[in-house]
Amino acid sequence: VKLGFVGAGRMGLPMVHRLRAAGHMVRVLARSPQARERLTAAGLPAADLVGTAGEAADGAAALMVCVHTDAQVREVCLGGALDRLPGGALLIVHTTGDPGTVEEIARAHRGIAVVDAPVSGGPAQAATGALTVFAGGAADALERALPLLRTYADPVLTVGPLGAGQRVKLVNNALFAATTALVADAVALGARLGLDEATLLAALSHGSASSRALSLAAGFGSAGALAGGLGGFLGKDVAIVREVAARLGADLGAIGQALASSSGTAVLGQAAGR
Ligand SMILES: NC(=O)c1ccc[n+]([C@@H]2O[C@H](COP(=O)([O-])OP(=O)(O)OC[C@H]3O[C@@H](n4cnc5c(N)ncnc54)[C@H](OP(=O)(O)O)[C@@H]3O)[C@@H](O)[C@H]2O)c1
Repeated sequence: VKLGFVGAGRMGLPMVHRLRAAGHMVRVLARSPQARERLTAAGLPAADLVGTAGEAADGAAALMVCVHTDAQVREVCLGGALDRLPGGALLIVHTTGDPGTVEEIARAHRGIAVVDAPVSGGPAQAATGALTVFAGGAADALERALPLLRTYADPVLTVGPLGAGQRVKLVNNALFAATTALVADAVALGARLGLDEATLLAALSHGSASSRALSLAAGFGSAGALAGGLGGFLGKDVAIVREVAARLGADLGAIGQALASSSGTAVLGQAAGR
């Protein structure tokens, strides 16, 4: 299938490799000489690189977008590039963002089928086909997207209509960030009790207090190292959670308290600073 890909960065590049390995023809945006150099050095044929998002979309059966921020999704998808997609084509948005963005894109481009498909997992999972995707969209759009998504993701979880993938991902990241803050507080309590941090984390990961954040912190050997290793994602995504919740007048409850605590601020601050 002829595909277009915008956002071949840390997550997007291994996705492109998997799509190509599955036999798809993928036109990839390289919007600068540096990007062109990086992508050819990573093994993509120069002939498959294009200079604009519109060229990536031109004639494609599906366009994947995996840029970093919601604002970049808006720039790409509401900036005219989608006018070059054939009628009935698929747009798959992998970027974690505001659910309202994909809904607005779908309203502006009624001739294309939009699926929101934010991912959980990192570049290593993308490279081995083991990403988790939370996918939202109309049933027929999801059905068409599934074979493409399954080249780099397992499981692909269909969670509801357009925007539902983003909503699940936002709840996931809010809960993960809050749990990471709680793990930092648990370690502080352990220190007051005279416990060694690495020993405590390793032991707790076998107890009923275990969670993904706790296991990851145990793997790193400290709660601080986990916060430092999270990259800029949690800060960016929690800002969206707060904005969406404020719009709805929704209270984040204990999640909000954990995120607003000094441990929460440290988790988000450290993460956002990277
Ligand atoms: N990295 C992770 O571990 C991870 C894990 C889970 C989820 N996510 C989510 O996955 C998404 C992608 O993250 P990432 O880490 O892969 O981002 P990234 O490494 O920063 O890559 C972003 C890509 O988007 C391109 N881009 C940025 N702005 C653009 C624009 N206006 N027009 C066209 N292309 C543009 C960049 O191109 P240039 O190279 O030309 O700048 C780059 O190729 C994010 O929403 C993130 O929250 C990431």
